[in-house]
Amino acid sequence: MTTAHTATPATPATPATARLRSLVAEIRETVNRGLPPEPTAYMVAEKLLPHLGRPDLLTEGQYEGDSAHYRQHVLHAEHDGSFSVVALVWLPGQSTPVHDHVSWCVTGVHRGEEHERRYRLVPQGMTARLVAAQDVVNPAGTVAAFAPPGDIHLVRNAGTGKAVSLHVYGADVVRLGTSVRRVYDLPADR
Ligand SMILES: [Fe+2]
Repeated sequence: MTTAHTATPATPATPATARLRSLVAEIRETVNRGLPPEPTAYMVAEKLLPHLGRPDLLTEGQYEGDSAHYRQHVLHAEHDGSFSVVALVWLPGQSTPVHDHVSWCVTGVHRGEEHERRYRLVPQGMTARLVAAQDVVNPAGTVAAFAPPGDIHLVRNAGTGKAVSLHVYGADVVRLGTSVRRVYDLPADR
């Protein structure tokens, strides 16, 4: 798999668990306030936080990984395209390419931990190179919120167990096919 966060075509008509339905309703209320991307993302992150780690958030099938690459389960796509919610399941060693996103994005680690490397794009002659700016370890029960531009990153599971995270995007990733704006295949300084 070469693209990050590629959406699977099947979208559940309604969120599968009562807790997820409640989370979707909270996100909808927040998004419908019509605030700019950054405050929207921060407020959605606050809504996501209390649901992380709760055993009734996901169904058993939504914890299933794939030995070939990290797996995405679409949990909800809002009918008006204003947001979508996915679960990403990472087996040890699995990683995204370096990428950024089409919209604001909120991530929350539900189980295990995610390692994230953030990059800056630095002009170099006629092209550009990536400079690693920050390494972040996001353990279970933590959230991160960001809005483009400047959201170039790579995410991997550097642990020994399965990692599961929830991602909320301010776009319909099913209709777009992906949440990714661009995959960066550029020289990196480390
Ligand atoms: Fe990402």
